[in-house]
Amino acid sequence: MKFPSVIILIGFMGAGKTSTGKDLAKLLSFDFFDTDHWIEEKNKKNITQIFKENGENFFRLEEKKVICWIRNQVKSVISVGGGLWMDEENRDQLLSLGWCVWLKVSPEMAWKRVKIHLEQRPLLAQAKDPLAEIKSMMKKRDPIYQLAHSCFLTDDKDSKQVANEILKLLKRDSIIDLS
Ligand code: S3P
Repeated sequence: MKFPSVIILIGFMGAGKTSTGKDLAKLLSFDFFDTDHWIEEKNKKNITQIFKENGENFFRLEEKKVICWIRNQVKSVISVGGGLWMDEENRDQLLSLGWCVWLKVSPEMAWKRVKIHLEQRPLLAQAKDPLAEIKSMMKKRDPIYQLAHSCFLTDDKDSKQVANEILKLLKRDSIIDLS
């Protein structure tokens, strides 16, 4: 399968989508975009404020609008918020717009990474037992993340290693047009 020039990174919070995306974009000399960042810029507030002041439903509608914008991107690596992929319509569109890569992380590693700035994770910040909440969310989400074109494990690896692994596969299988 060949895609024009868009790579989409999906997966749970703490999988390393943003850092890996930036590293991969650098390796490819592509642009890097993050859907959460796009929504924050558009609304002039951060994700925590959006959830608090506008609610999750509003945020999910904003996520739908990002897809229209992704449609016009070329030579880009795009990191998408962990919940955006759960919507079937979003997912179908992303699968047709680019090469979708699931960055898979264990619950324990996700927790280790997100607890540093838990206040920035509105879906976990209020949980009595955030690790149990992560496990429960992943149990529901992993079978859906699995629908991506490809999967890379990110536990015990830094973002540069993961980006290099992805690049290797992109080249080996001529997945996107790198000319
Ligand atoms: C969410 C993940 C977050 C952000 C929001 C909701 C989710 O993005 O979009 O807090 O539903 O998993 P990251 O996956 O980039 O942390």
